[in-house]
Amino acid sequence: MTAQDRINDYWTGRAPSYAEYQRQPARLADDLAAWSQVWAGALPPAPLDVLDVGTGSGQVAGVLAGLGHRVTGIDLSPGMLEQARSTYGNVGFRLGDAVEPPFPPSSFDAVTGRYVMWTLRDPGAAVANWMRLLRPGGTVAVVDSTWFPDGPQSFYDPSVWEALPLAQAESINQTAAVLEQAGLADVTVTPLTTIYELDEKYGVAPGHELQTQYLITGHV
Ligand SMILES: C[S@@+](CC[C@H](N)C(=O)[O-])C[C@H]1O[C@@H](n2cnc3c(N)ncnc32)[C@H](O)[C@@H]1O
Repeated sequence: MTAQDRINDYWTGRAPSYAEYQRQPARLADDLAAWSQVWAGALPPAPLDVLDVGTGSGQVAGVLAGLGHRVTGIDLSPGMLEQARSTYGNVGFRLGDAVEPPFPPSSFDAVTGRYVMWTLRDPGAAVANWMRLLRPGGTVAVVDSTWFPDGPQSFYDPSVWEALPLAQAESINQTAAVLEQAGLADVTVTPLTTIYELDEKYGVAPGHELQTQYLITGHV
């Protein structure tokens, strides 16, 4: 079993509770407003062709479709894709590797990925491949944080942690450096204060601590 197989199995097992957390009625409206603002600010105006990698239960893809973009979401976890398909009928979801997305060059205007960089086995190769998928002037926009600076957690096997270069990043600049080293221009890191405030108000996902999340953007 490869590290990626283990990652896929983990997320399929977690998919129902992950989707349920994202659909909490109490914070749904505030989440939608806050994330719509984040993604509207991250990308040029709709309609664009957008690929959401590691789409999970599809919340980012759903927000982007709500902004008027034509959205495709890919993930390697069948359980996550099942959750996404059952929630967001206006997005095309398919099985696909974020590191090697199965699309021809110049297929998209933007590639997005939230909470995905940290769990990629080769984030540098992934960003290089995303750049090939983009048309001239296209945008890469990812959101992530320094989730596990204290070291491996029990939800992944130790061999998985060893395979993930950014999982134990101590600074978001390590993630931004991957985008820069792949050749993206204008790489910009923006702390998401509205999301921090939402997490303060409603609480964070089980097993997480209150942490600043960052939007990182760059252009081809
Ligand atoms: C923390 S979840 C984030 C889900 C979603 N982007 C969100 O913001 O809620 C990480 C997701 O990345 C997916 N993933 C991990 N490695 C992947 C890969 N190489 N290709 C595609 N998806 C991957 C997992 O299956 C999981 O759905």
